[in-house]
Amino acid sequence: MEKSPSHSPAPVSAVLFDAYGTLFDVYSVGLTAEQLFPGHGQALGVLWRDKQIEYTRLVTTSNNGAHYQPFWDLTRAGLHYACQRLGLDLTAEREERLMNQYRHLSAFPENKEVLQALKARGIVTGILSNGDPSMLNVAVRSAGLDGLLDHVISVDAIRKYKTHPDAYALGLQATGLQARQIAFVSCNSWDALAATWFGYQTLWVNRYQLPFETLGTQPAYTGSNLRDVLALPGLKNLPLEGTPA
Ligand code: LAC
Repeated sequence: MEKSPSHSPAPVSAVLFDAYGTLFDVYSVGLTAEQLFPGHGQALGVLWRDKQIEYTRLVTTSNNGAHYQPFWDLTRAGLHYACQRLGLDLTAEREERLMNQYRHLSAFPENKEVLQALKARGIVTGILSNGDPSMLNVAVRSAGLDGLLDHVISVDAIRKYKTHPDAYALGLQATGLQARQIAFVSCNSWDALAATWFGYQTLWVNRYQLPFETLGTQPAYTGSNLRDVLALPGLKNLPLEGTPA
């Protein structure tokens, strides 16, 4: 894991994770997409994801949120757009198969052990996500992560998507902590950037060896998978729960 030269670590009391792309693999729909549309699975997966995120920004920044729709609905709209753009025939049956797959996305394999290790160290854990509550509940349960998360925070409560600062502020309200006491973990570079701007100590998990956003701010830490969370400087020296301090 790399540390940004400008970051001075502070003790971390809570770790909040982004959900889609970070705990849950949004590109795992690519396999089903490839079965349904041979030769187009990967392109569909990428365009679908990009449109979904673009729509979150569109509804948050336009007309004071008057066009808000829950993440599930924007996900479906993104699928419609991506199929039209790629010239793919999205029948009702194919649509339901892909949406159902999205509801039960694969979780990245290291998630569970990382959350267990955080809990064992007495760290508060949570999700802070654009996903709506029912999507998040199903995803958390399917991945067997229930019981390992103290907070499952959905921006749906305020009808504003990340990267609106009110969305990141939900993490402070839920934990009662200050931003610098919280490590925010995301694989999405735009999310890691905005969380850094908000004031969280941010770990960008760069799973796909991508460049970081080029807007002049670096995340405090950059890692390659979720296990890097356990090496965050503010966490390292905490005693394991149940052992003398
Ligand atoms: C989330 C999406 C943006 O879970 O990845 O917030």
